[in-house]
Amino acid sequence: MEDVTGATADIPAGGVSYVEVCAEDELWDGEMDAFDVGEHEVLLVRLDGRYHAYDGICPHQSVSLADGELTEAGVLICSAHQWQFDAASGNGVNPATVCLTRFPVKVEDGRVFVGDRPVA
Ligand code: FES
Repeated sequence: MEDVTGATADIPAGGVSYVEVCAEDELWDGEMDAFDVGEHEVLLVRLDGRYHAYDGICPHQSVSLADGELTEAGVLICSAHQWQFDAASGNGVNPATVCLTRFPVKVEDGRVFVGDRPVA
């Protein structure tokens, strides 16, 4: 497994199943897309060749984050009320007190896989 993600070090203990979501070259740096992973809508973001996966639903009022904007500075902005998140960590930018829920990601043989449960 090639470690090109920001989340593989925190894979949840026991029983995570990975779901193939796309080919590695389907997302370019600075792009994001939403995928169904189990019962979750997951937002996959590619930044500097690394993949990051988050719960794709905004923690504010449950709008899909895939409808938002990803800036060149790597800030994810929700389309509804412009809450902002650091797309490399999921940490809140504005407001700083709210973070995105991360999901584990791995890349194998040019395919991107996302775990079916959040990082603990
Ligand atoms: S729903 Fe995302 S900022 Fe309000």
